Amino acid sequence: MTQDPADNWKHWPQGWYAVARADALRPGQIHSGHLAGQPWVLYRGHSGTLHATDAFCPHMGAHLHNAQVCGEALVCGLHACHLLPQTAAPTLPEHIKAGCRLAVRAWPSAEHFGLIWLHPPAAAIPPLPFSGSDGGHHWLAAGPQAVAADWRAMICNGFDLEHMQAVHQRQVEGEPLFERLPENGLRMTYRTRVLPRGGLSSWLMQRLSGGVIHLVHTCVGSSIMVQSRVGRFRTSAVFALLPQDAPGTRPEQRHSVALAAIGIPHGARWPTLQLRLARALYLAFLRKDFRVVEGMRLQLNHTADVGVQAVTAYQHTLADMEHHP
Ligand code: FES
Ligand SMILES: [Fe+2]
Repeated sequence: MTQDPADNWKHWPQGWYAVARADALRPGQIHSGHLAGQPWVLYRGHSGTLHATDAFCPHMGAHLHNAQVCGEALVCGLHACHLLPQTAAPTLPEHIKAGCRLAVRAWPSAEHFGLIWLHPPAAAIPPLPFSGSDGGHHWLAAGPQAVAADWRAMICNGFDLEHMQAVHQRQVEGEPLFERLPENGLRMTYRTRVLPRGGLSSWLMQRLSGGVIHLVHTCVGSSIMVQSRVGRFRTSAVFALLPQDAPGTRPEQRHSVALAAIGIPHGARWPTLQLRLARALYLAFLRKDFRVVEGMRLQLNHTADVGVQAVTAYQHTLADMEHHP
């Protein structure tokens, strides 16, 4: 039997991951999680600056999700060591005493599109996804949303032209254009016609667009940016997925956490109203996808969809993050 192209997708592609909404982390608060099994804690110092570091205290290994933020440092709850993340590789003394001050390894972190992004410490850090595409936008974040679906199925969905009609009541017009981007992404440019059924959101899209929507989808790792032109309205949406399972988990048993952000250009009229409307339309669009990808056992050896084939070929070129159980 020929190998399924889905099997060559990396479980955790090397790169940045959106892990939280920026407005969900206030000064003094701490979040925790893992990327490819590497545990992290993320916190906002009292100045508002974002910091991220390994999740275990270098003294005796207490998990830092229950630490306290003190200024820009974390104070471990077990013996009150002050830990300050720094980017230059810190060296730890051989014996660490309770209450001491320690420089710890910082994780690269950034706020972008109203979301917080993390990358595991590495010798070379790629640019943030879609870093050339955020100029002059207001952003409104959404999520996190737990989805009982394989993140790969949702990325495929973002490029699956054949599902547009059945799920989104849209018909693709003309030939899509594919480009590989120098920052290691894949871009698909195409247009769709809104078909006259599909509920309130489709009706509204048809009224706003005059029938045709111009779209650019860009995939970088496990995130997609969708830029759309609907009549005179332009919106950008970022959809970022965080895999949740150990490698080897059956595709139909996988889970993901989804975060999203909607942006409209500065200078747009009634920006708050437009943003809320754009977010409602985008989330209505996504809910239709969640319904069909949940519990999906992704298989790609029987599809001839050019979008799915292009994103699969792109995903095959990505490096895998090393997995630390
Ligand atoms: S384990 Fe953190 S200070 Fe001791
Ligand atoms: Fe979809």
